Amino acid sequence: MKDILRLLSYIKPYWHFQTLYILCQLGYFGGFIVLPWIEKILIDDVFLAKNADKLLPTCGLWMLVAFGMYLFSLGFAYFPIKVSQNAAKDIQLAAYHHLRRLGFKFYDTQQTGKVMALFTSDTPKVIEGFQIFASDYPTNTILLIVTIPVVMSVSWQLCLLSLLLVGVTVSMPILLNKSLNRIGEEVQEQNAVLSSNLQESIAGSRELKGLGKELYDLKNIHHFLKQLVTIRIKQVKIQKVGDILAIWWLSDALVLLVGGGYVLQDAMTVGELFAVVMWFNALQRPVHFLVTLHLSIPSVMAAARRIFAFFDEHEQEPQDGTPITHIEGSVQFSDVSFEYSDAQPVLKRIRFQAESGETIAIVGPSGAGKSTLVSLIPRFYEPQHGNIFIDTTPINTIQIQSLRSHIGIVFQDPYLFAESIAYNIRLGAEDPEAITHEQVVAAAKLANAHDFIMNFPQQYESEVGERGIQLSGGEQQRIAIARVLIRDPKILILDEATSSLDAESEALVQEALIRLMEGRTSFVIAHRLSTILNADKILVLNDGELVESGTHAALIQRNGVYYDLFQKQFAGMQKGT
Ligand SMILES: Nc1ncnc2c1ncn2[C@@H]1O[C@H](COP(=O)(O)OP(=O)(O)O)[C@@H](O)[C@H]1O
Ligand SMILES: [Mg+2]
Repeated sequence: MKDILRLLSYIKPYWHFQTLYILCQLGYFGGFIVLPWIEKILIDDVFLAKNADKLLPTCGLWMLVAFGMYLFSLGFAYFPIKVSQNAAKDIQLAAYHHLRRLGFKFYDTQQTGKVMALFTSDTPKVIEGFQIFASDYPTNTILLIVTIPVVMSVSWQLCLLSLLLVGVTVSMPILLNKSLNRIGEEVQEQNAVLSSNLQESIAGSRELKGLGKELYDLKNIHHFLKQLVTIRIKQVKIQKVGDILAIWWLSDALVLLVGGGYVLQDAMTVGELFAVVMWFNALQRPVHFLVTLHLSIPSVMAAARRIFAFFDEHEQEPQDGTPITHIEGSVQFSDVSFEYSDAQPVLKRIRFQAESGETIAIVGPSGAGKSTLVSLIPRFYEPQHGNIFIDTTPINTIQIQSLRSHIGIVFQDPYLFAESIAYNIRLGAEDPEAITHEQVVAAAKLANAHDFIMNFPQQYESEVGERGIQLSGGEQQRIAIARVLIRDPKILILDEATSSLDAESEALVQEALIRLMEGRTSFVIAHRLSTILNADKILVLNDGELVESGTHAALIQRNGVYYDLFQKQFAGMQKGT
């Protein structure tokens, strides 16, 4: 019930259309109550009474009512679309905004396809829900309730008989409710599973082709499709068993039989009997509606619950805190401990100070916690213990977007959007629209990207493929650097920015990075010796602990973990490359 009310809250802004819709529906179906009455007059007072004068006005009245029903039917085709489409749009927008404000914790654990299914499969299902709860259910119930006293006024015995027959038809779906509930949830879940598998196999096309696993993958999708077909068919089967409308015409015979007896005994007129039969058949409409509605409610509610769970279960990033306009750029970690979710400490009591403008190199074996450490600075995650300060302000008191506007990040594998190169570069700025073409070009030049961009036929307006396919890794990286240059942040994070590049593009990227680092506090996770040698301070991480820190010379002298690491990883480079 709570879920239903929550669902209905989305049509509240469109209540006036909804009201018009319900009125049109009542007007239209009201015709089904009025017409039998006119039929009764026709039979009793015109045909059987052989009253020719009344024929034309009575038929005229019939036509008038029928025309009115036509007008109402137009309204009830138009208004519900207006309401449900708008409300669905609102849900999708709300879901999208929610999605954008979720933290990395969410993105670490959720499959993209499952989230997509909220938009492609759950929302359309929920549209049915608006229809059901906000109009079909109430109007048909009203009609049912209005028809009863009308029939009662003609013959209470026939009315009771009709109600008994109605009762039989609606009892079935109530009995089936539980299994329908379960299967409804299964269908929506399977839709989500299918969608996430499709998404994965599209995103991983290159790998699958490379591994020669296209068919293997197809088999997988085939399996999910087959499963979906099986449960959908099962769903319809159960729904149809519950929908015993065909029996209705059998009950017509019962009404005629009993009513016919009354007519022969002169307890009822012929007109009244036919009016009752017509009402009874008109009743079929609301009853049929209520029955089938009842049968589709489980799958609608399953979809709604999935959407609400998405809204409720995942916490947004905190939106409070004070914005900061200017920072000097010093960063201090004070006893920072962090774990992801499994109570397995990833960073243990990290403590260091980076002065404004310094270059801090972070080294350590893979899995030591280097990426995790730098991801705490833009508050991608919140440490469980300790504090991080920028200048002297604890970062958890700074408004997140404002904090991030002072930080630029270059990842190992940058993501370029399927838009123009200029668009991708502008995206770095707080207000992309305010960036002039000259500024874009200047940033690209500093990033060593201008020359190759000018070689494309459409230059800065060239579209980048979904994953920047037609650009090499080094080219993508240089565009990512231009993007950060446009941002002009005080603090810079380079997480293995050159490690997936070949030597030649690495040199170009390296040059661009050195320009980028100038005058900024830079945290560099690097595999490159020169970067480390030039760093003001080296932090050596091992298994989440800051085991050593200092300059290269000091750390070599110390002959500890760094010395070993240096011998293993970098000493060869010094000689060879
Ligand atoms: N998003 C995540 N969720 C859970 N555990 C993670 C996540 N990212 C990294 N880890 C774990 O945290 C540890 C440190 O990882 P990471 O910071 O990426 O190390 P590094 O960058 O030094 O290779 C590893 O044990 C890794 O498995
Ligand atoms: Mg890493």
